[in-house]
Formats: sequence, structure tokens, C-alpha cells
Amino acid sequence: MFGKIWKDKKQSPLSLSYTKEEILRHPIPEHVAIIMDGNGRWAKKRALPRAAGHYEGMQVVRKITRFANELGIKVLTLYAFSTENWKRPKSEVEYLMKLPEQFLTTFLPELIEENVNVRVIGNREQLPDHTRRAVEQAIAETKQNTGLILNFALNYGSRAEITYAIQSIAKQVEKGLLSPEDINEDLVASYLMTKDLADPDLLIRTSGEIRLSNFMLWQLAYTEFWFTDVLWPDFTEQHLLEAIAEFQKRGRRFGGV
Ligand code: FPP
Repeated sequence: MFGKIWKDKKQSPLSLSYTKEEILRHPIPEHVAIIMDGNGRWAKKRALPRAAGHYEGMQVVRKITRFANELGIKVLTLYAFSTENWKRPKSEVEYLMKLPEQFLTTFLPELIEENVNVRVIGNREQLPDHTRRAVEQAIAETKQNTGLILNFALNYGSRAEITYAIQSIAKQVEKGLLSPEDINEDLVASYLMTKDLADPDLLIRTSGEIRLSNFMLWQLAYTEFWFTDVLWPDFTEQHLLEAIAEFQKRGRRFGGV
């Protein structure tokens, strides 16, 4: 289906190279979600502090956002901070909380120019003021943009999201505004933080971990998964093309035949 060029054998004998043009000949996933993992290991391998891995990870966010936009992907959801990440050492949490601010201050003009629409899922109220302000400014300033939706999952946890949705629905039932029979899958989806977005078509997780870590449990029901050993700071445009090529080879039946 695609031109196959073997990469340097020493590097990865099984990986194929794809060009953007080859990938664009077939339907591409509209919504790509990524669990960006391996920043810490990347830093450790280089005897650097973990923060250096997160900083490098932020540069990759920029590169992949740009490329996703070029490919015509409609939504890119990035797991930037989970509700469980608060358990990390205080200094690391503080650093991670500075990243959205740093990213958005540095790259906001570029995101605006590239017509990117920034959004956030997750509990914003628990974020430090400086982080929340940066995120809200980016959301406000890119609100009119019609290109790629760059959706950060920030202080996001899927179980918390679903629990909150159930509470909200229960309150409506208690008030008599909904009856239990009104509760169907569409209604539940409309109470989730992703209510305005289609479900992801492709989920990527880097760093060799093969689990979901409380990420979009409802939304990933029919998503194609692609796992790679590559650490997030080493993730390139070529890896994204590889993931999409694999997606294009899979037949999605959504439970049908
Ligand atoms: C997981 O790697 C990564 C995170 C918890 C943070 C992800 C954040 C970024 C990639 C930068 C975010 C950028 C913006 C713009 C918000 P890890 O630290 O768990 O790595 P390890 O498993 O190797 O220790």
C-alpha cells in the first residue's frame, strides 16, 4: 500500500518510513489522542534532571502540534497532567505546572497564526492561579480559530470525569428534570468534558507502557491503539506517520461485521 523504505537496520529493523504524501492518500484519523510518556526516563538516560525531560517533551508538543495541523488532523488531545500526577515530588509538580504557561506564552502567537484552537479538559479549579490564567488566556485568544483543536488534558482523570457526570445527571433526576429512562449513551457523553468533540480514532502511548492510566476511558471504547517504545522527547513526525499508517491498515467495524 505504501512505498516501503527500510530504515537504518541498526536503529530499528522493523520500522518503515512513510512520507506525508503517502499517508494523505488514505483517510487519516480525525481525532488523535496521545499519552506522552517517558520524559523522566529520557532525562535519566542522559543523567539530567527529570525537568529536562519535561522541557524537551514540551518542544515535541510544539513540533507534533504543527505537524498534526499540517496533516489536517482535526483534534489532538494530549495527556499533559493526570489527577494522579499530584503525587509526584513537589518540585516536579511545580515544574509541570509552569509548562503550560511557558508553552503558551512562547508559542501562543504561533498557535494563533496557525489557526489552532486551544482547549482544556480536566479540573481547572485545582490548578495554581498562574497556570489557570495562562490556559484561560490561550483558550480565549484562540476561541475563534477554526484549524486544529489542541486539547490539553490537564489535571484530568477519566474516573473523576465520569463520576462528576453521574453526579450531575443524578441531580437532574432528583429535580425531576430527567427521568432514569432518559439516561442513554448520548446523554452520558453530553455530560463529559469532551461533549463537543468526537471520540478519538487513534490513541498513541509512548515509552513502552501498555495501559490507559485513567485516560478517556469512555471515549476510547472503539479507538485504535498504537503503542511504541519510543520515549516522548524522542517522538518525531515520522513516528506519527507510522502510527497513522498502522491505523490506515486496520479495519474498524465498531462492533459490526
Ligand atoms: C510522563 O512522563 C509525562 C508527564 C507526566 C508530563 C507530560 C508533559 C509534557 C510532555 C510536557 C507538557 C507540555 C505542555 C505544553 C503542557 P514521565 O515523567 O512519567 O516519564 P517516566 O515514566 O519516564 O518517568
